[in-house]
Amino acid sequence: MYWRLAIPISLACLTAAFAQPPQTATPRPTGGFVPGQKRAAEDPAQVDRGKSIYGISCRACHGADLRGGDIGGPNLLRSQLSLSDQKGEKIVPVIQGSLQAGGMPAIPMSPEDAHAVAAYVRSVLGTIGGQGRPPSAMEPPSILVGNAADGKVFFQSKCTGCHSVDGDLKGIATRIPDPRVLQNSWVAGMLRTGRGPAPQTPRNTVTAVVTLTDGQKVEGKLVRIDDFTVTVAKADGTQQTIRRDGDVPKVEVKDPLAAHRELYPVYTDKNMHDVTAYLVTVK
Ligand code: HEC
Ligand code: HEC
Repeated sequence: MYWRLAIPISLACLTAAFAQPPQTATPRPTGGFVPGQKRAAEDPAQVDRGKSIYGISCRACHGADLRGGDIGGPNLLRSQLSLSDQKGEKIVPVIQGSLQAGGMPAIPMSPEDAHAVAAYVRSVLGTIGGQGRPPSAMEPPSILVGNAADGKVFFQSKCTGCHSVDGDLKGIATRIPDPRVLQNSWVAGMLRTGRGPAPQTPRNTVTAVVTLTDGQKVEGKLVRIDDFTVTVAKADGTQQTIRRDGDVPKVEVKDPLAAHRELYPVYTDKNMHDVTAYLVTVK
């Protein structure tokens, strides 16, 4: 995920000169914030910027809608810390690493960007209970917000090269009844090389086949590879380390989910939710 983070960082450098200071606007109520209470308006430009940074740096863990992520971040809509944030003083330190012990990594970005993300989070919180809706109206499982028909179209254009709902994915929604786990089964693998906890996908094992000069093949799970050696864990439980010299011996690395990771930059949150809405119909 480092390279993905590199984008907002360099954008941050470019935009830092133009960045507006975090808007404080009118003072917010200090005591416990009640969802639905009127919040000061945020600067729309800052919120917009925060939203795109959120999509890149926070979405995977906290969810596209902030209600809890696919790889383990808590629901920010119920986070007392976020609810009491006035101008970044609570959220920015978290982004900078104050909760690392609890599994929230420090996310490298400029203070301006961190303030923009905080403004975005506040702006979403500001809509809770708005229009007279009780907060509970926001409760239904957020994962099934997609459009199954659109998901089917996306699936047919991007996924059928490798999958078929009458073949390998037949009955996937019966086999994986929890929509969130179902979504994880293809989305989480994309972030496997990223920071944070390894996603719980059952079969994301990278394997390697090493063809020795005498033609003998050594194969198994890839433990480690660099310019000088390759280490493979074989089916019998032993590990073998083989010296490498350029292209000798030949090493073929198979990463079954590489294709999913390559798709990651391609699809939007809507695509993701649509595909999930479609896959839950594949019983
Ligand atoms: C790798 C996963 C991961 C990423 C990426 C991530 N978070 Fe978190 N976040 C967590 C976890 C896990 C916690 C819970 C930490 C704890 O309870 O100590 C957390 C906690 C938080 C909290 C505090 C919630 C509370 O009430 O305690 C906030 C606010 C937050 N994250 C915001 C963000 C923002 C904003 C981003 C993006 C800039 C982000 N997070 C990116 C995993 C992540
Ligand atoms: C280039 C090939 C390729 C493409 C394209 C691809 N996948 Fe996959 N997918 C795989 C492989 C390989 C696996 C792992 C299969 C295994 O371990 O048996 C996998 C696993 C999965 C699984 C878990 C299946 C299970 O039985 O647990 C789901 C769900 C899935 N993919 C959905 C998708 C979706 C949705 C798309 C399109 C957005 C997609 N894949 C695109 C190759 C691909």
